[in-house]
Amino acid sequence: MSALTTAELRNAVAQLPHFPLAHVPTPLEHLPKLSEMFGGPQIYIKRDDCTGLTFGGNKTRHNELILGDVLKKQADLIVWGAGVQSNNCRQTAAACAKAGIDIHLVLGRGRPATEPDPIQGNLLLDHLVGAKVEIIDGGIGLEVDEYIANLSEKYVAEGRKVYAWDRKTVKPLAAIGYVTAMVEIAEQSAEQSFTPDAVYVCSAGSTGAGLVLAREAMGHTYGITHVAPIVWPWDTAADMARIAREAGALIGVAADVTATDIDLTEEYIGPDGYGKVSPGCLEAISLLARNEAILLDPVYSGKAMAGLIDHIRAGKFTRDQHVVFVHTGGTPALFAYNEDLMDGLGQLGV
Ligand SMILES: Cc1ncc(COP(=O)(O)O)c(C=O)c1O
Repeated sequence: MSALTTAELRNAVAQLPHFPLAHVPTPLEHLPKLSEMFGGPQIYIKRDDCTGLTFGGNKTRHNELILGDVLKKQADLIVWGAGVQSNNCRQTAAACAKAGIDIHLVLGRGRPATEPDPIQGNLLLDHLVGAKVEIIDGGIGLEVDEYIANLSEKYVAEGRKVYAWDRKTVKPLAAIGYVTAMVEIAEQSAEQSFTPDAVYVCSAGSTGAGLVLAREAMGHTYGITHVAPIVWPWDTAADMARIAREAGALIGVAADVTATDIDLTEEYIGPDGYGKVSPGCLEAISLLARNEAILLDPVYSGKAMAGLIDHIRAGKFTRDQHVVFVHTGGTPALFAYNEDLMDGLGQLGV
């Protein structure tokens, strides 16, 4: 495949229906104090925490394509789900509020309730934007997916036109939102007179798949490190490659992405697993907040930044190289993790 220009790639993406939601392009900012603190590389941050929809985040770009598909299919109800503090669900519920479509969220707690779930962070916002919220004991992934499939069948039997969360069809659409984000990074870095030597992002799915698809389509060669927030019960790199290929097919860009093109690390999930703050993540949150006044989150972007910091300390980059960190958002979760954050920072002596 011959390399596409950013304009050609934008045109390819524009063929699919979009529902406009995101404030784009998001800024690409240099982090001078953080870069200096480690003696390089030069660290830049793609501010997708500023995509604008109810506190922003990566799912805002995803939802432009997903809502485009929902409206094309004339659905009147979205049945969606993930974890109780899901940024995905918060942004999808917000998108539905804007589009005037009902949404039923199935939020997996992953354990039986011992006390009422605190209405904080993303869960609070789900309620505020008018979602119907149902919290179940099952965990995110296959249990929530199965619940959604059964619930959707019930709604269909009642005559509703349902668009349901189904990772196989939704993820390639979502990835296309990150083709445009990578195009923005290419354009903005050129405007700022540098070429990225590496990109870091928190992803084990669509976000990273879209970035890789765009890199391949533009014929660029920098590495993209996907710092996973979770270990899925499937081969994540192979799944991300499939998402990238299917996303490419949807926009007429035939990129032969395979699992070997996906540089995925599961090393920074932390000792207690998905959704639990780790020491590296706490340090990253604190460093970014105190030096750059940028808020990372305790489940996703904080862990990805912990991975980047660890790689810098291990000597992976020279002083003059340029690394772009994609901030995928998640900041409302800070309020739901207030105690864990304060306890953790106290233990670190921060
Ligand atoms: C803040 C944030 N960052 C990163 C991710 C990972 O996105 P994905 O694995 O779908 O690319 C999520 C997913 O929910 C998220 O909420």
